[in-house]
Amino acid sequence: KKQVRVGLLGLGTVGGGVYKTLLKNRETILTRTGCEVEVVNILVRDREKERGFDVDAKRLTLEPENLLKDETIDIYIEVIGGIHPTKEIIEQALRSKRHVITANKELMAKHGADLLRLAQENEVHLLFEASVAGGIPVIHMLQGYLTANRVHEICGILNGTSNYILSEMSKTGKSFSEVLAEAQALGYAEADPTSDVEGFDAAYKLAILTNLAYDACVDIATIDRQGISQLTGADLALAERMGYAIKLIGNAKEQAGALQLSVRPHLLPDAHPLARVNDVFNAVTLRADVVGDLTLIGRGAGEFPTASAVIEDLTALLTQRENIRRPNWERAMNHRCTEQDAGA
Ligand code: NAP
Ligand code: HSE
Repeated sequence: KKQVRVGLLGLGTVGGGVYKTLLKNRETILTRTGCEVEVVNILVRDREKERGFDVDAKRLTLEPENLLKDETIDIYIEVIGGIHPTKEIIEQALRSKRHVITANKELMAKHGADLLRLAQENEVHLLFEASVAGGIPVIHMLQGYLTANRVHEICGILNGTSNYILSEMSKTGKSFSEVLAEAQALGYAEADPTSDVEGFDAAYKLAILTNLAYDACVDIATIDRQGISQLTGADLALAERMGYAIKLIGNAKEQAGALQLSVRPHLLPDAHPLARVNDVFNAVTLRADVVGDLTLIGRGAGEFPTASAVIEDLTALLTQRENIRRPNWERAMNHRCTEQDAGA
Protein backbone atom coordinates (compact mmCIF):
# COMPACT_ATOMS: atom_id res chain seq x y z
CA LYS A 1 0.00 0.00 0.00
CA LYS A 2 1.05 3.54 -0.73
CA GLN A 3 1.12 6.26 1.97
CA VAL A 4 -0.42 9.56 0.89
CA ARG A 5 0.11 12.65 3.03
CA VAL A 6 -2.53 15.37 2.94
CA GLY A 7 -2.28 18.97 4.13
CA LEU A 8 -5.73 20.22 5.14
CA LEU A 9 -6.27 23.97 4.82
CA GLY A 10 -9.29 24.71 7.05
CA LEU A 11 -11.15 22.61 9.60
CA GLY A 12 -14.61 24.19 9.65
CA THR A 13 -17.82 22.64 8.31
CA VAL A 14 -16.28 21.09 5.19
CA GLY A 15 -12.77 20.52 6.59
CA GLY A 16 -14.28 18.79 9.64
CA GLY A 17 -16.38 16.57 7.36
CA VAL A 18 -13.32 15.67 5.28
CA TYR A 19 -11.19 14.94 8.35
CA LYS A 20 -13.85 12.74 10.00
CA THR A 21 -14.65 10.88 6.77
CA LEU A 22 -10.99 10.14 6.02
CA LEU A 23 -10.70 8.57 9.48
CA LYS A 24 -14.05 6.76 9.47
CA ASN A 25 -13.74 5.35 5.94
CA ARG A 26 -9.98 4.83 6.00
CA GLU A 27 -10.26 1.09 5.25
CA THR A 28 -12.76 1.57 2.41
CA ILE A 29 -10.54 4.20 0.79
CA LEU A 30 -7.52 1.92 1.21
CA THR A 31 -9.34 -1.03 -0.38
CA ARG A 32 -10.58 1.04 -3.31
CA THR A 33 -7.44 3.07 -4.02
CA GLY A 34 -4.56 1.05 -2.56
CA CYS A 35 -3.59 4.18 -0.62
CA GLU A 36 -3.47 4.93 3.06
CA VAL A 37 -4.38 8.59 3.43
CA GLU A 38 -3.14 10.55 6.42
CA VAL A 39 -3.95 14.17 7.25
CA VAL A 40 -0.59 15.31 8.57
CA ASN A 41 -1.07 19.02 9.10
CA ILE A 42 -4.11 21.31 9.39
CA LEU A 43 -4.30 25.07 8.95
CA VAL A 44 -6.79 26.86 11.23
CA ARG A 45 -7.33 30.37 12.60
CA ASP A 46 -7.87 29.35 16.22
CA ARG A 47 -6.06 26.37 17.74
CA GLU A 48 -8.11 26.50 20.96
CA LYS A 49 -11.52 26.36 19.29
CA GLU A 50 -13.92 23.63 20.51
CA ARG A 51 -14.55 21.54 17.38
CA GLY A 52 -16.91 18.86 18.70
CA PHE A 53 -14.63 16.01 17.58
CA ASP A 54 -11.19 14.68 18.46
CA VAL A 55 -8.30 16.14 16.57
CA ASP A 56 -4.64 15.81 17.43
CA ALA A 57 -3.72 19.35 18.57
CA LYS A 58 -0.13 18.82 17.37
CA ARG A 59 -1.40 18.75 13.79
CA LEU A 60 -3.05 22.19 14.01
CA THR A 61 -1.12 25.21 12.83
CA LEU A 62 -1.85 28.91 12.33
CA GLU A 63 0.92 29.38 9.77
CA PRO A 64 0.36 28.44 6.11
CA GLU A 65 4.16 28.20 5.75
CA ASN A 66 4.22 25.25 8.14
CA LEU A 67 2.20 23.27 5.60
CA LEU A 68 3.71 24.74 2.46
CA LYS A 69 7.30 24.08 3.44
CA ASP A 70 6.55 20.45 4.38
CA GLU A 71 7.89 18.64 1.32
CA THR A 72 6.41 15.34 2.44
CA ILE A 73 2.86 16.55 1.73
CA ASP A 74 1.51 15.11 -1.54
CA ILE A 75 -1.88 16.83 -1.80
CA TYR A 76 -3.44 19.96 -0.30
CA ILE A 77 -7.16 20.28 0.36
CA GLU A 78 -8.31 23.91 0.56
CA VAL A 79 -11.51 24.45 2.55
CA ILE A 80 -10.85 27.89 4.01
CA GLY A 81 -12.92 29.92 1.56
CA GLY A 82 -12.59 33.50 0.28
CA ILE A 83 -9.92 34.97 -1.98
CA HIS A 84 -7.16 36.06 0.41
CA PRO A 85 -4.97 34.45 1.66
CA THR A 86 -6.41 31.38 -0.06
CA LYS A 87 -5.37 32.28 -3.60
CA GLU A 88 -1.76 32.93 -2.58
CA ILE A 89 -1.60 29.66 -0.60
CA ILE A 90 -2.96 27.65 -3.55
CA GLU A 91 -0.56 29.36 -5.96
CA GLN A 92 2.37 28.48 -3.72
CA ALA A 93 1.18 24.87 -3.39
CA LEU A 94 0.83 24.50 -7.18
CA ARG A 95 4.23 26.09 -7.81
CA SER A 96 5.74 23.55 -5.44
CA LYS A 97 4.24 20.88 -7.72
CA ARG A 98 1.66 19.53 -5.31
CA HIS A 99 -1.92 18.74 -6.32
CA VAL A 100 -4.67 20.92 -4.84
CA ILE A 101 -8.33 20.14 -4.22
CA THR A 102 -10.63 23.06 -3.42
CA ALA A 103 -14.30 23.61 -2.52
CA ASN A 104 -13.95 27.35 -3.16
CA LYS A 105 -16.46 28.47 -5.82
CA GLU A 106 -15.75 32.17 -5.42
CA LEU A 107 -12.05 31.62 -6.07
CA MET A 108 -12.65 29.25 -9.00
CA ALA A 109 -15.23 31.57 -10.58
CA LYS A 110 -13.00 34.63 -10.26
CA HIS A 111 -9.51 33.17 -10.77
CA GLY A 112 -10.07 29.61 -12.00
CA ALA A 113 -8.55 30.15 -15.46
CA ASP A 114 -5.26 31.48 -14.04
CA LEU A 115 -5.05 28.82 -11.34
CA LEU A 116 -5.78 26.00 -13.80
CA ARG A 117 -3.08 27.35 -16.10
CA LEU A 118 -0.64 27.43 -13.17
CA ALA A 119 -1.52 23.83 -12.31
CA GLN A 120 -0.92 22.75 -15.90
CA GLU A 121 2.42 24.61 -16.09
CA ASN A 122 3.53 22.75 -12.99
CA GLU A 123 2.21 19.39 -14.21
CA VAL A 124 -0.15 18.98 -11.26
CA HIS A 125 -3.93 19.05 -10.92
CA LEU A 126 -6.35 21.54 -9.37
CA LEU A 127 -9.68 19.79 -8.74
CA PHE A 128 -12.88 21.46 -7.57
CA GLU A 129 -15.86 19.06 -7.59
CA ALA A 130 -17.07 20.35 -4.20
CA SER A 131 -17.25 23.93 -5.47
CA VAL A 132 -20.58 23.29 -7.23
CA ALA A 133 -23.75 21.73 -5.80
CA GLY A 134 -22.24 20.02 -2.73
CA GLY A 135 -22.51 16.24 -3.02
CA ILE A 136 -23.77 16.18 -6.62
CA PRO A 137 -20.96 14.95 -8.92
CA VAL A 138 -21.89 17.41 -11.66
CA ILE A 139 -18.32 18.41 -12.52
CA HIS A 140 -17.29 14.78 -12.96
CA MET A 141 -20.41 14.35 -15.11
CA LEU A 142 -19.52 17.31 -17.32
CA GLN A 143 -15.83 16.40 -17.53
CA GLY A 144 -15.99 12.65 -17.79
CA TYR A 145 -19.32 11.48 -19.14
CA LEU A 146 -20.56 14.02 -21.67
CA THR A 147 -17.51 14.13 -23.91
CA ALA A 148 -19.54 13.35 -27.02
CA ASN A 149 -22.21 15.91 -26.17
CA ARG A 150 -22.64 19.54 -26.85
CA VAL A 151 -24.42 21.06 -23.83
CA HIS A 152 -26.80 23.78 -24.91
CA GLU A 153 -28.41 24.68 -21.62
CA ILE A 154 -27.69 24.44 -17.90
CA CYS A 155 -30.52 25.05 -15.50
CA GLY A 156 -30.58 24.42 -11.78
CA ILE A 157 -31.03 25.14 -8.12
CA LEU A 158 -27.42 25.86 -7.17
CA ASN A 159 -27.62 27.25 -3.65
CA GLY A 160 -28.62 25.03 -0.72
CA THR A 161 -29.08 27.87 1.79
CA SER A 162 -31.57 29.82 -0.32
CA ASN A 163 -33.46 26.66 -1.26
CA TYR A 164 -33.61 25.72 2.44
CA ILE A 165 -34.89 29.22 3.27
CA LEU A 166 -37.57 29.22 0.54
CA SER A 167 -38.84 25.74 1.35
CA GLU A 168 -38.79 26.19 5.16
CA MET A 169 -40.54 29.58 4.95
CA SER A 170 -43.17 27.96 2.75
CA LYS A 171 -43.57 24.85 4.92
CA THR A 172 -43.46 26.41 8.40
CA GLY A 173 -44.41 30.06 7.93
CA LYS A 174 -41.23 31.06 9.81
CA SER A 175 -39.57 34.38 8.98
CA PHE A 176 -36.67 34.85 6.55
CA SER A 177 -34.22 35.71 9.36
CA GLU A 178 -35.28 32.72 11.47
CA VAL A 179 -34.67 30.19 8.71
CA LEU A 180 -31.46 31.92 7.60
CA ALA A 181 -30.18 31.46 11.18
CA GLU A 182 -31.13 27.75 10.97
CA ALA A 183 -29.24 27.37 7.67
CA GLN A 184 -26.20 28.98 9.28
CA ALA A 185 -26.41 26.67 12.31
CA LEU A 186 -26.63 23.66 9.99
CA GLY A 187 -23.38 24.74 8.28
CA TYR A 188 -25.03 25.42 4.92
CA ALA A 189 -24.39 29.16 4.61
CA GLU A 190 -21.24 30.98 3.55
CA ALA A 191 -19.22 32.94 6.14
CA ASP A 192 -21.08 35.99 4.78
CA PRO A 193 -24.58 34.71 3.93
CA THR A 194 -25.18 37.72 1.66
CA SER A 195 -23.44 35.58 -0.94
CA ASP A 196 -26.16 32.93 -0.58
CA VAL A 197 -29.27 35.09 -0.33
CA GLU A 198 -28.30 37.65 -2.98
CA GLY A 199 -27.44 35.04 -5.60
CA PHE A 200 -23.65 35.56 -5.74
CA ASP A 201 -22.88 31.99 -4.65
CA ALA A 202 -25.22 30.54 -7.29
CA ALA A 203 -23.68 32.88 -9.89
CA TYR A 204 -20.16 31.60 -9.06
CA LYS A 205 -21.38 28.02 -9.51
CA LEU A 206 -23.20 28.82 -12.73
CA ALA A 207 -20.03 30.44 -14.10
CA ILE A 208 -17.96 27.35 -13.22
CA LEU A 209 -20.44 24.98 -14.90
CA THR A 210 -20.68 27.25 -17.94
CA ASN A 211 -16.90 27.48 -18.25
CA LEU A 212 -16.69 23.68 -18.19
CA ALA A 213 -19.58 23.07 -20.56
CA TYR A 214 -18.63 25.70 -23.12
CA ASP A 215 -14.83 26.02 -22.66
CA ALA A 216 -15.67 29.61 -21.82
CA CYS A 217 -14.40 32.16 -19.34
CA VAL A 218 -17.44 33.92 -17.93
CA ASP A 219 -17.05 37.33 -16.34
CA ILE A 220 -19.30 36.93 -13.28
CA ALA A 221 -19.99 40.66 -13.13
CA THR A 222 -22.07 40.28 -16.29
CA ILE A 223 -24.42 37.60 -14.90
CA ASP A 224 -27.96 38.90 -14.56
CA ARG A 225 -28.40 38.31 -10.82
CA GLN A 226 -31.16 38.75 -8.27
CA GLY A 227 -31.40 37.02 -4.89
CA ILE A 228 -34.24 35.96 -2.60
CA SER A 229 -33.90 38.48 0.24
CA GLN A 230 -36.86 40.55 -0.96
CA LEU A 231 -39.27 37.61 -1.00
CA THR A 232 -41.85 37.42 1.78
CA GLY A 233 -43.87 34.58 3.27
CA ALA A 234 -46.92 36.15 1.58
CA ASP A 235 -45.23 35.86 -1.86
CA LEU A 236 -44.50 32.18 -1.25
CA ALA A 237 -48.01 31.46 0.04
CA LEU A 238 -49.62 33.21 -2.93
CA ALA A 239 -47.45 31.27 -5.39
CA GLU A 240 -48.39 28.01 -3.68
CA ARG A 241 -52.12 28.81 -3.83
CA MET A 242 -51.74 29.38 -7.58
CA GLY A 243 -49.98 26.01 -8.04
CA TYR A 244 -46.42 27.31 -8.25
CA ALA A 245 -43.20 27.18 -6.25
CA ILE A 246 -40.66 30.00 -6.13
CA LYS A 247 -37.09 28.76 -6.70
CA LEU A 248 -33.76 30.54 -7.17
CA ILE A 249 -32.73 29.30 -10.61
CA GLY A 250 -29.38 29.57 -12.33
CA ASN A 251 -29.64 29.35 -16.07
CA ALA A 252 -27.08 29.40 -18.89
CA LYS A 253 -28.25 29.13 -22.45
CA GLU A 254 -26.58 29.53 -25.81
CA GLN A 255 -28.57 31.61 -28.26
CA ALA A 256 -27.41 32.86 -31.63
CA GLY A 257 -23.77 32.18 -30.74
CA ALA A 258 -23.87 34.07 -27.43
CA LEU A 259 -24.32 32.84 -23.87
CA GLN A 260 -27.09 34.21 -21.68
CA LEU A 261 -26.57 33.72 -17.94
CA SER A 262 -28.93 34.54 -15.11
CA VAL A 263 -29.59 33.79 -11.46
CA ARG A 264 -33.07 34.84 -10.36
CA PRO A 265 -36.14 33.67 -8.47
CA HIS A 266 -38.57 31.92 -10.84
CA LEU A 267 -42.16 30.82 -10.54
CA LEU A 268 -42.16 27.13 -11.42
CA PRO A 269 -45.42 25.26 -11.95
CA ASP A 270 -45.94 22.31 -9.57
CA ALA A 271 -45.32 19.85 -12.40
CA HIS A 272 -41.85 21.27 -13.15
CA PRO A 273 -39.11 18.75 -12.18
CA LEU A 274 -37.35 21.35 -10.02
CA ALA A 275 -40.47 22.64 -8.22
CA ARG A 276 -40.41 19.93 -5.55
CA VAL A 277 -36.67 19.99 -4.92
CA ASN A 278 -36.75 21.27 -1.34
CA ASP A 279 -34.69 21.66 1.81
CA VAL A 280 -30.92 21.88 1.20
CA PHE A 281 -31.19 19.89 -2.01
CA ASN A 282 -29.79 21.19 -5.28
CA ALA A 283 -30.67 20.04 -8.78
CA VAL A 284 -28.88 20.54 -12.06
CA THR A 285 -30.40 19.86 -15.47
CA LEU A 286 -27.95 19.61 -18.34
CA ARG A 287 -29.62 19.82 -21.73
CA ALA A 288 -27.32 18.25 -24.31
CA ASP A 289 -27.60 17.26 -27.95
CA VAL A 290 -26.85 13.54 -27.68
CA VAL A 291 -28.06 12.42 -24.26
CA GLY A 292 -30.99 14.86 -24.06
CA ASP A 293 -31.96 16.13 -20.59
CA LEU A 294 -30.01 14.87 -17.62
CA THR A 295 -31.05 15.96 -14.11
CA LEU A 296 -28.96 15.33 -11.02
CA ILE A 297 -30.45 15.93 -7.57
CA GLY A 298 -28.70 15.75 -4.21
CA ARG A 299 -27.69 17.61 -1.09
CA GLY A 300 -26.15 20.90 -2.17
CA ALA A 301 -24.42 21.87 1.10
CA GLY A 302 -23.43 20.58 4.51
CA GLU A 303 -20.39 18.86 5.98
CA PHE A 304 -20.73 15.30 4.73
CA PRO A 305 -22.21 15.79 1.22
CA THR A 306 -19.46 18.31 0.55
CA ALA A 307 -16.80 16.09 2.11
CA SER A 308 -17.97 13.33 -0.21
CA ALA A 309 -17.24 15.53 -3.24
CA VAL A 310 -13.83 16.58 -1.90
CA ILE A 311 -12.86 12.96 -1.29
CA GLU A 312 -14.10 12.01 -4.76
CA ASP A 313 -11.47 14.39 -6.13
CA LEU A 314 -8.91 12.87 -3.78
CA THR A 315 -9.63 9.34 -4.96
CA ALA A 316 -9.48 10.53 -8.59
CA LEU A 317 -5.97 11.81 -7.89
CA LEU A 318 -5.03 8.54 -6.19
CA THR A 319 -6.35 6.25 -8.90
CA GLN A 320 -6.52 8.00 -12.27
CA ARG A 321 -4.19 10.97 -12.11
CA GLU A 322 -2.93 10.40 -15.66
CA ASN A 323 -6.44 10.36 -17.14
CA ILE A 324 -7.95 13.40 -15.44
CA ARG A 325 -9.15 15.78 -18.14
CA ARG A 326 -7.85 19.32 -17.85
CA PRO A 327 -10.52 22.02 -18.17
CA ASN A 328 -9.94 24.58 -20.87
CA TRP A 329 -11.18 27.96 -19.72
CA GLU A 330 -9.06 29.88 -22.15
CA ARG A 331 -11.45 30.73 -24.92
CA ALA A 332 -13.72 33.51 -23.69
CA MET A 333 -17.18 33.36 -25.26
CA ASN A 334 -19.23 36.38 -25.95
CA HIS A 335 -22.11 36.30 -23.49
CA ARG A 336 -24.94 38.62 -22.79
CA CYS A 337 -27.36 38.41 -19.91
CA THR A 338 -31.06 38.91 -20.09
CA GLU A 339 -34.05 38.00 -18.03
CA GLN A 340 -35.41 34.74 -19.36
CA ASP A 341 -37.50 31.70 -18.78
CA ALA A 342 -36.16 29.03 -16.38
CA GLY A 343 -36.14 26.49 -19.15
CA ALA A 344 -39.38 24.81 -18.16
P1 NAP B 1 -16.02 27.43 7.71
O1 NAP B 1 -16.86 26.49 8.47
O2 NAP B 1 -16.08 28.88 8.01
O3 NAP B 1 -14.50 26.93 7.86
C1 NAP B 1 -13.41 27.69 7.43
C2 NAP B 1 -12.13 27.10 8.03
O4 NAP B 1 -11.02 27.81 7.54
C3 NAP B 1 -12.07 27.17 9.56
O5 NAP B 1 -11.48 26.00 10.06
C4 NAP B 1 -11.17 28.38 9.82
O6 NAP B 1 -10.39 28.22 11.01
C5 NAP B 1 -10.25 28.33 8.64
N1 NAP B 1 -9.80 29.67 8.23
C6 NAP B 1 -10.56 30.70 7.80
N2 NAP B 1 -9.79 31.75 7.50
C7 NAP B 1 -8.52 31.38 7.74
C8 NAP B 1 -7.26 32.02 7.65
N3 NAP B 1 -7.14 33.29 7.21
N4 NAP B 1 -6.15 31.34 7.99
C9 NAP B 1 -6.24 30.07 8.43
N5 NAP B 1 -7.41 29.39 8.55
C10 NAP B 1 -8.52 30.06 8.22
O7 NAP B 1 -16.28 27.30 6.15
P2 NAP B 1 -16.91 26.06 5.37
O8 NAP B 1 -18.40 26.14 5.40
O9 NAP B 1 -16.25 24.81 5.77
O10 NAP B 1 -16.51 26.44 3.85
C11 NAP B 1 -15.17 26.31 3.42
C12 NAP B 1 -15.14 26.42 1.90
O11 NAP B 1 -15.96 25.39 1.33
C13 NAP B 1 -15.69 27.73 1.31
O12 NAP B 1 -14.98 28.02 0.12
C14 NAP B 1 -17.13 27.38 0.97
O13 NAP B 1 -17.67 28.19 -0.04
C15 NAP B 1 -16.95 25.96 0.48
N6 NAP B 1 -18.14 25.12 0.55
C16 NAP B 1 -18.87 25.06 1.68
C17 NAP B 1 -19.96 24.21 1.76
C18 NAP B 1 -20.81 24.09 2.98
O14 NAP B 1 -21.84 23.40 2.92
N7 NAP B 1 -20.44 24.72 4.09
C19 NAP B 1 -20.29 23.42 0.64
C20 NAP B 1 -19.51 23.50 -0.52
C21 NAP B 1 -18.43 24.36 -0.55
P3 NAP B 1 -11.07 28.13 12.48
O15 NAP B 1 -11.83 26.83 12.49
O16 NAP B 1 -9.93 28.11 13.43
O17 NAP B 1 -11.96 29.33 12.59
N1 HSE C 1 -23.41 28.15 0.93
C1 HSE C 1 -23.48 27.18 -0.10
C2 HSE C 1 -24.91 26.78 -0.33
C3 HSE C 1 -22.65 25.98 0.27
O1 HSE C 1 -25.74 27.06 0.54
O2 HSE C 1 -25.22 26.20 -1.38
C4 HSE C 1 -22.54 24.95 -0.83
O3 HSE C 1 -21.79 25.43 -1.90
